Amino acid sequence: MAFIKWTDQFSVGIVEIDNQHKVLVKLINKLFDAMADGQANIILNEILNEMARYTQVHFATEEKCFAAFNYEGSEAHIDEHQQFIDTVMKFKTRFEAGNIVLSFEVFKFLKSWLVNHIQGSDKKYSECFIANGLK
Ligand code: FEO
Repeated sequence: MAFIKWTDQFSVGIVEIDNQHKVLVKLINKLFDAMADGQANIILNEILNEMARYTQVHFATEEKCFAAFNYEGSEAHIDEHQQFIDTVMKFKTRFEAGNIVLSFEVFKFLKSWLVNHIQGSDKKYSECFIANGLK
């Protein structure tokens, strides 16, 4: 499973949100690099903490727009965000309980969740956000 290369396929057409997604991609790639160097378990806790912290910031950005623009897909989308946070928290708990052989599982989860979420659910709000003046 390779690192994530940012391409226009990931763009939702809104600069601020694309930039936030790029931060998340960079974090996942940092974990990938650490795995390649055999250092993943050393930085896994830091990655999970930063992922938990930054996704709160990012999800809040999207969810504020859902409310402001009365986005019709908001409920299901917010559920997906919550499920992501719950899973990251479960990984943190397992890591803190001493299960340190988690890096690849975490990487696989983060990568597939982000790629599928951005290209699926996030792209669905593009038209609504752009119609409300975001660019
Ligand atoms: Fe970009 Fe819905 O997370």
